[in-house]
Amino acid sequence: MDKLRIMSVFGTRPEAIKMCPLVKELASRPQIESLCCVTAQHRQMLDSVLDVFDLKPDWDLDIMTPRQTLSTITSKCLTGMDEALEALRPDVVLVHGDTSTTFAGALSAFYHQIPVGHVEAGLRTYDKYSPFPEEMNRLLVSGIADMYFCPTAGNRENLVREGHTENLFITGNTVIDALKTTVKEDYRFSTEELNTLPYEKKVVLVTCHRRENYGEPMRNIMLALRQIAEQRPDVELVYPVHLSPVVRESVDKYLRGAPRVHLIDPLPADEMHNLMARCYLVLTDSGGLQEEAPALGKPVLVMRRETERPEAVAAGTVKLCGVVQDDIVTMAERLICDRAAYERMAHAVNPYGDGHACRRIADAIEWRCGLRKER
Ligand code: UD1
Ligand code: UDP
Repeated sequence: MDKLRIMSVFGTRPEAIKMCPLVKELASRPQIESLCCVTAQHRQMLDSVLDVFDLKPDWDLDIMTPRQTLSTITSKCLTGMDEALEALRPDVVLVHGDTSTTFAGALSAFYHQIPVGHVEAGLRTYDKYSPFPEEMNRLLVSGIADMYFCPTAGNRENLVREGHTENLFITGNTVIDALKTTVKEDYRFSTEELNTLPYEKKVVLVTCHRRENYGEPMRNIMLALRQIAEQRPDVELVYPVHLSPVVRESVDKYLRGAPRVHLIDPLPADEMHNLMARCYLVLTDSGGLQEEAPALGKPVLVMRRETERPEAVAAGTVKLCGVVQDDIVTMAERLICDRAAYERMAHAVNPYGDGHACRRIADAIEWRCGLRKER
């Protein structure tokens, strides 16, 4: 009997971190042929993840250009996907999350009338401009998808409310599967600066990249980080700066040169996860960090006005601090100075699963495609 051909499509760093473990789980199933098509919406940051997980894609669209626009990413993905789908002839296409790659990958599979599975389905803010364009990508992919792999029960409820009632599976988030393979107690960093950081001080891990934060909000964020670093000798800020030129300009203009600020290049995923495990606090506008840090018992201040990850907020380890300079500084200072406030947030909770999300997703696909009886 021919194997079921499942093609996973991804292109950015976070999609890769969350999809590589699934590509491997699918490859371990005797009845499945696991195929991997990368758009390379991110080039260096994607390749770094592929290296960490030791995965070689079957197809590479290689679309990235500096300062790419949403339209160029989407149109180049769509055109490239035609060729990939015709060559690899998958029975099912899997996309992840909410990027332009996700949307174009799902749309292209639909044009070829190939069923689509959406991994990390059902996240919502209900504000179509925030996060931008991710919230709309999620909605559009929900309309296209045939199988929905929801990290949490809340994500499933969002989809049910929107009228999606079939082929919904609560699986946990595959990022926890990834974390389980990367975080190690005796980990030694290949970035030497991280081995010699003064961990006895308060190491604050920072990331920032969202499009809706470009301009004024990003300036506020950088100035807030500078202010925290300048007024707190007991703090060391470690900031692996995203390769986006827009982000790098803002960092150079407002943050570079501040005392106790370590501006470094993006870290390989394993280095990042182990740094997170050792830091004191996380300040970020990232989606993925809101899932990883709670699992590692690290408080997170989210430099955004909303979040599609209310589970970690409800559990008490994530708080929104917005994008106003004073608010960010005040909330960060509180966690730096007030031990009780810190301890209330710093407990390991993990609303995002037990690290077996990939197994559940593979089981669900096998069930939906008639390869197994029990759901
Ligand atoms: C994209 C996703 C966002 C996700 C983020 C993860 C969209 C619209 N946005 O945003 O949802 O949270 O990835 O990081 O899909 N660059 C490089 N090398 C790289 C990666 C990026 O040089 O390896 C530079 C390029 O100049 C590129 C720019 O960064 O044009 C922006 O990349 P892009 O994928 O358009 O946007 P992100 O902000 O990374
Ligand atoms: N990450 C990484 N190296 C870095 C910064 C982040 O490996 O220098 C990882 C991080 O641990 C998480 C993912 O990248 O798994 C988050 O990616 P990003 O913040 O770019 O995107 P988002 O999650 O906001 O879509």
